[in-house]
Amino acid sequence: MNRAKHIAIIMDGNGRWAELSGKKRVKGHEAGAKVVKEITTYCSNNKDIERLTLYAFSTENWKRPRLEVEFLMKLLEKYLKNELPIYLKNNVRFEPIGDIRAFSKSLQKTIKDVKEKTAHCDGLVQSLALNYGSQDEMLRAVNKIRNCEDDITQEMLGNALDCKHSVDLLIRTGGDHRLSNFLLWQAAYAELFFTDTLWPDFSTSELEKIIKNFTKIERRFGGLK
Ligand code: FPP
Repeated sequence: MNRAKHIAIIMDGNGRWAELSGKKRVKGHEAGAKVVKEITTYCSNNKDIERLTLYAFSTENWKRPRLEVEFLMKLLEKYLKNELPIYLKNNVRFEPIGDIRAFSKSLQKTIKDVKEKTAHCDGLVQSLALNYGSQDEMLRAVNKIRNCEDDITQEMLGNALDCKHSVDLLIRTGGDHRLSNFLLWQAAYAELFFTDTLWPDFSTSELEKIIKNFTKIERRFGGLK
Protein backbone atom coordinates (compact mmCIF):
# COMPACT_ATOMS: atom_id res chain seq x y z
CA MET A 1 0.00 0.00 0.00
CA ASN A 2 1.30 3.48 -0.85
CA ARG A 3 2.20 5.85 1.91
CA ALA A 4 1.52 9.53 1.38
CA LYS A 5 4.81 10.56 2.95
CA HIS A 6 4.95 13.92 1.21
CA ILE A 7 1.69 15.73 0.53
CA ALA A 8 1.69 19.02 -1.37
CA ILE A 9 -1.36 21.25 -1.70
CA ILE A 10 -2.27 24.12 -4.01
CA MET A 11 -4.75 25.95 -1.79
CA ASP A 12 -7.00 27.63 -4.34
CA GLY A 13 -10.44 29.19 -4.07
CA ASN A 14 -10.19 31.60 -1.13
CA GLY A 15 -11.34 34.62 -3.16
CA ARG A 16 -14.31 32.81 -4.72
CA TRP A 17 -15.33 31.40 -1.34
CA ALA A 18 -15.54 34.92 0.08
CA GLU A 19 -17.28 36.41 -2.96
CA LEU A 20 -19.93 33.65 -2.88
CA SER A 21 -21.05 34.86 0.52
CA GLY A 22 -20.79 38.55 -0.37
CA LYS A 23 -17.57 39.09 1.57
CA LYS A 24 -14.32 40.74 0.53
CA ARG A 25 -11.74 38.41 -1.02
CA VAL A 26 -9.39 38.82 1.91
CA LYS A 27 -11.96 37.20 4.22
CA GLY A 28 -11.39 34.08 2.14
CA HIS A 29 -7.67 34.21 2.91
CA GLU A 30 -8.46 34.58 6.61
CA ALA A 31 -10.72 31.52 6.48
CA GLY A 32 -8.04 29.74 4.43
CA ALA A 33 -5.44 30.33 7.15
CA LYS A 34 -7.68 28.48 9.64
CA VAL A 35 -7.80 25.50 7.30
CA VAL A 36 -3.99 25.56 7.00
CA LYS A 37 -3.91 25.16 10.76
CA GLU A 38 -6.43 22.29 10.83
CA ILE A 39 -4.80 20.36 8.00
CA THR A 40 -1.34 20.80 9.54
CA THR A 41 -2.54 19.49 12.90
CA TYR A 42 -4.23 16.55 11.20
CA CYS A 43 -1.04 15.69 9.28
CA SER A 44 1.09 16.04 12.42
CA ASN A 45 -1.07 13.34 14.03
CA ASN A 46 -0.80 10.95 11.08
CA LYS A 47 2.35 8.88 11.38
CA ASP A 48 2.44 8.07 7.65
CA ILE A 49 2.77 11.72 6.67
CA GLU A 50 6.28 13.13 7.00
CA ARG A 51 6.01 16.32 5.02
CA LEU A 52 3.28 18.79 4.08
CA THR A 53 4.13 21.50 1.56
CA LEU A 54 1.59 24.27 1.08
CA TYR A 55 1.54 26.89 -1.69
CA ALA A 56 0.98 30.07 0.32
CA PHE A 57 2.36 32.82 -1.96
CA SER A 58 3.69 32.37 -5.47
CA THR A 59 6.22 34.41 -7.42
CA GLU A 60 3.24 35.43 -9.57
CA ASN A 61 1.00 36.53 -6.68
CA TRP A 62 2.74 39.96 -6.60
CA LYS A 63 0.52 40.79 -9.61
CA ARG A 64 -2.53 40.96 -7.32
CA PRO A 65 -3.90 44.31 -6.07
CA ARG A 66 -1.51 45.95 -3.59
CA LEU A 67 -4.00 45.80 -0.74
CA GLU A 68 -4.56 42.06 -1.19
CA VAL A 69 -0.78 41.44 -1.24
CA GLU A 70 -0.35 43.55 1.90
CA PHE A 71 -3.17 41.67 3.61
CA LEU A 72 -1.58 38.32 2.74
CA MET A 73 1.77 39.46 4.15
CA LYS A 74 0.18 40.59 7.43
CA LEU A 75 -1.86 37.41 7.65
CA LEU A 76 1.23 35.30 7.14
CA GLU A 77 3.15 37.12 9.84
CA LYS A 78 0.25 36.84 12.28
CA TYR A 79 -0.23 33.17 11.43
CA LEU A 80 3.45 32.33 12.02
CA LYS A 81 3.62 34.21 15.32
CA ASN A 82 0.43 32.52 16.57
CA GLU A 83 1.45 29.10 15.32
CA LEU A 84 4.91 28.90 16.88
CA PRO A 85 3.69 27.43 20.21
CA ILE A 86 1.44 25.02 18.30
CA TYR A 87 4.30 23.89 16.05
CA LEU A 88 6.34 23.24 19.19
CA LYS A 89 3.48 21.45 20.97
CA ASN A 90 2.86 19.22 17.92
CA ASN A 91 6.57 18.67 17.21
CA VAL A 92 6.24 20.28 13.75
CA ARG A 93 9.34 21.61 12.01
CA PHE A 94 8.75 24.68 9.87
CA GLU A 95 10.86 24.74 6.71
CA PRO A 96 9.89 27.52 4.30
CA ILE A 97 10.74 27.28 0.61
CA GLY A 98 10.95 30.13 -1.89
CA ASP A 99 12.90 33.35 -2.09
CA ILE A 100 11.90 35.31 0.99
CA ARG A 101 14.35 38.15 0.29
CA ALA A 102 11.50 40.02 -1.39
CA PHE A 103 9.54 40.22 1.86
CA SER A 104 9.73 42.97 4.47
CA LYS A 105 12.56 42.71 7.00
CA SER A 106 10.05 42.08 9.76
CA LEU A 107 8.35 39.19 7.92
CA GLN A 108 11.75 37.71 6.98
CA LYS A 109 12.73 37.84 10.65
CA THR A 110 9.52 36.09 11.74
CA ILE A 111 10.01 33.37 9.11
CA LYS A 112 13.64 32.79 10.16
CA ASP A 113 12.72 32.88 13.84
CA VAL A 114 10.00 30.21 13.50
CA LYS A 115 12.33 28.12 11.35
CA GLU A 116 15.13 28.29 13.93
CA LYS A 117 12.90 27.71 16.94
CA THR A 118 11.33 24.59 15.41
CA ALA A 119 14.58 23.23 13.91
CA HIS A 120 14.82 20.55 16.62
CA CYS A 121 11.28 19.21 16.04
CA ASP A 122 11.36 15.80 14.40
CA GLY A 123 7.68 15.17 13.67
CA LEU A 124 5.89 16.52 10.59
CA VAL A 125 7.78 19.01 8.42
CA GLN A 126 5.47 21.79 7.33
CA SER A 127 6.85 23.76 4.40
CA LEU A 128 5.13 26.93 3.34
CA ALA A 129 5.99 27.96 -0.21
CA LEU A 130 6.61 31.69 0.12
CA ASN A 131 7.43 33.83 -2.90
CA TYR A 132 7.87 30.45 -4.50
CA GLY A 133 7.75 29.39 -8.14
CA SER A 134 9.32 26.24 -9.55
CA GLN A 135 10.93 28.07 -12.43
CA ASP A 136 12.53 30.56 -10.05
CA GLU A 137 13.61 27.72 -7.73
CA MET A 138 15.27 25.86 -10.63
CA LEU A 139 17.01 29.00 -11.89
CA ARG A 140 18.37 29.77 -8.42
CA ALA A 141 19.51 26.14 -8.11
CA VAL A 142 21.31 26.19 -11.46
CA ASN A 143 23.02 29.46 -10.58
CA LYS A 144 24.20 27.95 -7.27
CA ILE A 145 25.91 25.00 -8.96
CA ARG A 146 26.82 26.26 -12.42
CA ASN A 147 30.47 26.92 -11.58
CA CYS A 148 31.21 23.34 -10.66
CA GLU A 149 33.77 21.69 -12.91
CA ASP A 150 31.81 18.51 -13.69
CA ASP A 151 28.60 18.09 -15.64
CA ILE A 152 25.55 18.81 -13.50
CA THR A 153 23.78 15.61 -12.51
CA GLN A 154 20.13 15.04 -11.62
CA GLU A 155 21.18 14.50 -8.02
CA MET A 156 23.16 17.75 -7.89
CA LEU A 157 20.29 19.78 -9.26
CA GLY A 158 17.75 18.05 -6.99
CA ASN A 159 19.88 18.84 -3.96
CA ALA A 160 20.28 22.49 -4.92
CA LEU A 161 16.52 23.04 -4.98
CA ASP A 162 14.71 24.59 -1.99
CA CYS A 163 12.57 21.47 -1.68
CA LYS A 164 14.73 18.36 -1.98
CA HIS A 165 11.95 15.81 -1.52
CA SER A 166 9.80 14.17 -4.15
CA VAL A 167 6.05 14.61 -3.74
CA ASP A 168 3.83 11.54 -3.39
CA LEU A 169 0.42 13.18 -3.46
CA LEU A 170 -0.36 16.59 -4.92
CA ILE A 171 -3.81 18.07 -4.28
CA ARG A 172 -5.33 21.18 -5.82
CA THR A 173 -8.53 22.64 -4.47
CA GLY A 174 -10.73 25.18 -6.24
CA GLY A 175 -11.64 23.30 -9.43
CA ASP A 176 -8.77 24.15 -11.77
CA HIS A 177 -6.56 21.45 -13.23
CA ARG A 178 -3.13 22.97 -13.42
CA LEU A 179 0.13 23.00 -11.46
CA SER A 180 0.70 26.78 -11.51
CA ASN A 181 4.49 26.58 -11.24
CA PHE A 182 4.39 24.48 -8.04
CA LEU A 183 7.01 21.77 -7.33
CA LEU A 184 7.35 20.87 -11.01
CA TRP A 185 10.59 18.93 -10.45
CA GLN A 186 9.53 17.27 -7.19
CA ALA A 187 6.09 16.25 -8.52
CA ALA A 188 7.53 14.31 -11.47
CA TYR A 189 5.84 11.11 -10.24
CA ALA A 190 3.29 12.54 -7.84
CA GLU A 191 -0.28 11.32 -7.95
CA LEU A 192 -2.48 14.32 -8.75
CA PHE A 193 -5.87 14.92 -7.13
CA PHE A 194 -8.11 17.83 -8.11
CA THR A 195 -11.18 18.79 -6.11
CA ASP A 196 -13.83 21.44 -6.76
CA THR A 197 -13.94 22.22 -3.04
CA LEU A 198 -12.80 25.79 -2.37
CA TRP A 199 -9.87 25.87 0.07
CA PRO A 200 -11.78 27.40 3.04
CA ASP A 201 -14.24 24.47 2.76
CA PHE A 202 -11.53 21.82 2.54
CA SER A 203 -11.60 19.51 5.53
CA THR A 204 -9.65 16.77 7.20
CA SER A 205 -12.36 14.29 6.19
CA GLU A 206 -11.89 15.18 2.50
CA LEU A 207 -8.14 14.83 2.91
CA GLU A 208 -8.66 11.44 4.55
CA LYS A 209 -10.75 10.28 1.56
CA ILE A 210 -8.11 11.47 -0.91
CA ILE A 211 -5.37 9.68 1.04
CA LYS A 212 -7.47 6.50 1.11
CA ASN A 213 -7.83 6.62 -2.70
CA PHE A 214 -4.13 7.38 -3.07
CA THR A 215 -3.14 4.31 -1.06
CA LYS A 216 -4.93 2.07 -3.59
CA ILE A 217 -3.21 3.43 -6.70
CA GLU A 218 -0.61 1.29 -8.35
CA ARG A 219 2.46 3.48 -8.68
CA ARG A 220 4.96 2.28 -11.29
CA PHE A 221 7.36 5.23 -11.57
CA GLY A 222 7.74 4.55 -15.27
CA GLY A 223 8.49 0.86 -14.75
CA LEU A 224 6.26 -2.17 -15.11
CA LYS A 225 4.07 -3.88 -12.54
C1 FPP B 1 -5.53 31.09 -3.64
O1 FPP B 1 -6.84 31.59 -3.51
C2 FPP B 1 -4.77 31.26 -2.46
C3 FPP B 1 -3.67 32.07 -2.34
C4 FPP B 1 -3.15 32.92 -3.39
C5 FPP B 1 -2.92 32.14 -1.13
C6 FPP B 1 -3.07 31.01 -0.16
C7 FPP B 1 -3.27 31.63 1.15
C8 FPP B 1 -3.93 31.07 2.19
C9 FPP B 1 -4.47 29.72 2.17
C10 FPP B 1 -4.18 31.84 3.42
C11 FPP B 1 -2.97 32.31 4.10
C12 FPP B 1 -1.99 31.24 4.34
C13 FPP B 1 -1.25 31.16 5.44
C14 FPP B 1 -0.27 30.10 5.58
C15 FPP B 1 -1.42 32.10 6.54
P1 FPP B 1 -7.32 32.67 -4.57
O2 FPP B 1 -7.26 33.99 -3.93
O3 FPP B 1 -6.52 32.54 -5.84
O4 FPP B 1 -8.79 32.21 -4.80
P2 FPP B 1 -9.64 32.40 -6.13
O5 FPP B 1 -9.05 31.48 -7.15
O6 FPP B 1 -11.01 31.99 -5.71
O7 FPP B 1 -9.54 33.84 -6.52
